[in-house]
Amino acid sequence: MGKALIIGCGGVASVAIHKCCQNSEVFEEICIASRTKAKCDKLRGELAPKTKTAIHTAQVDANNVEELTALIKQYQPDIVMNLALPYQDLTIMDACLAAGVHYLDTANYEPEDTAKFEYKWQWAYRDRFRDAGLTAVLGCGFDPGVTGVFSAYALKHEFDEIHEIDILDCNGGDHGYPFATNFNPEINIREVSANGSYWEDGRWVETKPMEIKREYDFEGVGKKDMYLLHHEELESLAKNIPGIRRIRFFMTFGQSYLTHLKCLENVGMTSIEPILYEGREIVPLQFLKAVLPDPASLGPRTVGKTNIGCILRGVTDGKEKDYYLYNICDHQECYREVGSQAVSYTTGVPAMIGAMMVIKGLWKGPGVFNVEEFDPDPFMEALNRWGLPWKESHHPVLVD
Ligand SMILES: NC(=O)c1ccc[n+]([C@@H]2O[C@H](COP(=O)([O-])OP(=O)(O)OC[C@H]3O[C@@H](n4cnc5c(N)ncnc54)[C@H](OP(=O)(O)O)[C@@H]3O)[C@@H](O)[C@H]2O)c1
Repeated sequence: MGKALIIGCGGVASVAIHKCCQNSEVFEEICIASRTKAKCDKLRGELAPKTKTAIHTAQVDANNVEELTALIKQYQPDIVMNLALPYQDLTIMDACLAAGVHYLDTANYEPEDTAKFEYKWQWAYRDRFRDAGLTAVLGCGFDPGVTGVFSAYALKHEFDEIHEIDILDCNGGDHGYPFATNFNPEINIREVSANGSYWEDGRWVETKPMEIKREYDFEGVGKKDMYLLHHEELESLAKNIPGIRRIRFFMTFGQSYLTHLKCLENVGMTSIEPILYEGREIVPLQFLKAVLPDPASLGPRTVGKTNIGCILRGVTDGKEKDYYLYNICDHQECYREVGSQAVSYTTGVPAMIGAMMVIKGLWKGPGVFNVEEFDPDPFMEALNRWGLPWKESHHPVLVD
C-alpha cells in the first residue's frame, strides 16, 4: 500500500520500524535513514529475514535540507516519519515541502541553544503545507500523541464539553541503575529541569521545577509520587478542546532520580551553556549524555509497567461527569516483542499508527495538525490491534 522514509534509528525509531515491519500490508517498503548508517544496516539485518516489508537504508544529516530533499526525491515515500530529535523538525518539514511529501513527528521543535519547546515554529508552516496540499501530523507519540487522541475520543463519545484534563504519565519501571533516562537523556533532562506550568482559565500558570507534587495509585504499578511539568500537548489541547478550563500534566519520578538530578544540576552538569574544557568548547549536558547509559541499552534490564492516560472532567446532557482513559504497558513484554523498553514502545507504536492513518487516507489535511484535530476512532481501534490496548474508567480517583 505505501512507502515510509524513517529518519533516525534510536530507541523510538527502532520500535516504529519493528511495527512497520509487522504491518507489511500498509508499509510495503521503508527506508531507514539516520546519521549513523551502521545502526540502520544492523536493524535491517535483524528484521529483513522476518518481514515482507522491503527495507532500505541511507545515511543522512537531517540538519541539511538539501541533502534531505535529495534523499526524499530519490526515494519518493508517501510520508516522512521524523523520529530523530526535536532539533531537526524544521529542516525535515522544509525538505518535505521541497519534495512534496507528508510529514509526521513525535516531539515539537526546540532550538538547540534555548531549552524551550513550543508549537509556534511548526504552526507557522500551516499555510505552506496547506498550499502544497500536504499533511503534517505533529506530536504523534504517546504524550503528546495518544493523550490528544484520548481527549478527542472522550469529546466525541463521552462529553458535550470537557472542562478539565489531567494527563498522568507513570513509569513504574526499574532498570537497576542509580540514574538513567528512558529516552534521549539530553531531551529528557531539558524537559524535567525546566519550570513547570499548567493552563487555567485562559492563561499559563508557571511553577518552579517539581514544585507541585501529588501521590496517585496507578493500576498495574501502585502508589507513586508524581510532579507537575510543562508538556507540549497542553499548548495544543488548550486551543483544540473547546470550553477547556484547566489542563495539567504530571509525571512520576523516583527519589533516586530526583536526588541525582538535583546534584547534577547543582554542579552545573545539566547546563546547555557551552564551556571551555582543555581548549575545546563542550556543552555540559551533552557530555553528561555521553557518560549516561544509552536508553536503548535499558531494554533487557527494565522490569515493571508504565501507565499513561488522561482523566477528563466535563458535562454531558447537563450532568457533570469524570472519565479516565489509559494504557498499561509492560517493559519486559515490550522487550520480548521488539527488543526495547516500554517508554520507546509507547512512543514508537503511535508513530507507526499515525503514519498508517496518513497512508490509508484516514487522516488527511492539507495543513499542519495536532493529533486531536483528526478522527480518533480509527486510531483508537489501531491502538488495540498494534500493542497498546486502552482501558477506561467512569469513576476514576481524581487528582486534587
Ligand atoms: N511523544 C512522546 O511520547 C515521546 C516520548 C519519548 C521520546 N519522544 C521523542 O522521540 C524522539 C526520539 O527519541 P529517542 O529516545 O529515540 O532518541 P535517540 O535514541 O537519541 O535517537 C535519536 C536518533 O536520531 C538520530 N539523529 C540525531 N541527529 C540527527 C541528524 N542530524 N541527522 C540524522 N539523524 C539524527 C540519531 O542518530 P545517531 O544514532 O547517529 O545518534 C538517533 O538515531 C525525540 O524527538 C524525543 O523527544 C517522544
